[in-house]
Amino acid sequence: MAYLTSAPRGTKDILPEETPKWQYLEKTLLETAELFGFREMRIPTFEHTELFSRSVGDTTDVVQKEMYTFTDKGDRSVTLRPEGTAGVARAALEHGLLGDALPLKVSYNITCFRYEKPGSGRYREFHQFGVELYGAASPAADSEILALAYHCLKEVGLGSVVLEINSLGCRECRKRYTQALIQYFDRYRGQLCGTCLERLEKNPLRVLDCKNPEDQRIAAGAPSILDYLCDDCQEHFREVQARLTEAGIPYRVEPTIVRGLDYYTRTVFEMVHTSPNGERVVCGGGGRYGGLIEELGGNPTEGIGFAMGLERLLATMTAEGCGFPPEEPCQVYLASMGESAGVRAFRLASLLRERGISAQCDLMGRSLKAQMKYANKLKARYVVVIGEDELQRGEGLLKSMDTGETTPVRLDEGIQIP
Ligand code: HAM
Repeated sequence: MAYLTSAPRGTKDILPEETPKWQYLEKTLLETAELFGFREMRIPTFEHTELFSRSVGDTTDVVQKEMYTFTDKGDRSVTLRPEGTAGVARAALEHGLLGDALPLKVSYNITCFRYEKPGSGRYREFHQFGVELYGAASPAADSEILALAYHCLKEVGLGSVVLEINSLGCRECRKRYTQALIQYFDRYRGQLCGTCLERLEKNPLRVLDCKNPEDQRIAAGAPSILDYLCDDCQEHFREVQARLTEAGIPYRVEPTIVRGLDYYTRTVFEMVHTSPNGERVVCGGGGRYGGLIEELGGNPTEGIGFAMGLERLLATMTAEGCGFPPEEPCQVYLASMGESAGVRAFRLASLLRERGISAQCDLMGRSLKAQMKYANKLKARYVVVIGEDELQRGEGLLKSMDTGETTPVRLDEGIQIP
């Protein structure tokens, strides 16, 4: 029976008292992205499994361990999206959005699904707000995306979050770096976990983001990608930093960031909040991806973007004491005594709502006292009591719940609420 009254592990209900915070956060992020020219795109919750194994990478934790994959009734393998980049890239290709009017700038606000161990801000169903920019290979595009990430955080009151940036280089840099990694990790073969040993053969970069503490300790001493960048990649990274400095966007170069998804090339970054007890919370991350569109069958097209985890962002905002707009309470509660008064209250409520004023009336057949108690609970700004007398006079008293003051109010089309 517990299955009927408790949500699946790693999922979370967002209750009515929490939704205003979510709506505020989502609206702020969408509007900030719009300032930069990003328009919202909506993509399916599930895609063909191959889309993710090809783009996110079949040696990543996400694909190997965390995907919600199932065979549908038509015998196709489909997967609940673990992230948004692959779906957005697929949609951009499918609808021919990469042909003209580049750069293409899109944003998305989606739920994602990863079979992870729930805890410390990690869920199995979570929300991501993200953006993707296609068609621009220049460092200017990297700086624009980083500036947008910073702007989003600042707009929601998290100006203290730091952008940690790194470069993963191009295919050529990666080839040389991979060799160096193999040489380094070879010495620790006896100590690495089974998954890392397998990854050392197939995709050595992935050994760097193993979550096993012993492997992490070994990975901490691995060579840095920054020492293996070719001249072009170095110049690109230098230019990105110069632009960030020029624009006053706080960042820190962090050579250990490799990101957990395979499609990245050159600039990668994470938005990091350090809590008072020193815990490092990654509110979001992203980077450039050079080969993804080609991998999906399109013409070579550069992409760059980021996604933020909204659960972590909200938790960080709450911990940091960021302000949220106050909830809009019920503007007026129409209390009534008797059936005819109840019908009038209903009519007046409809009238007020048509004018955009939130109004509620009794639906429970409650006593006047109980209705007043309920109006208090709703934090209604005003209450009008409608009884036999008021009905006959066509006028009642509008009571301010703040000050207790009362003013006469008409109980027909002429009703006015301040
Ligand atoms: P990601 O780093 O895998 O990147 O996820 C982005 C953010 O989603 C994380 O920084 C974190 O805040 C949040 N997140 C990830 N997994 C969970 C989870 N299990 N529970 C709660 N929050 C989570 C991507 O997904 C890339 N698609 C980002 C990107 C866009 N790169 C380029 N464009």
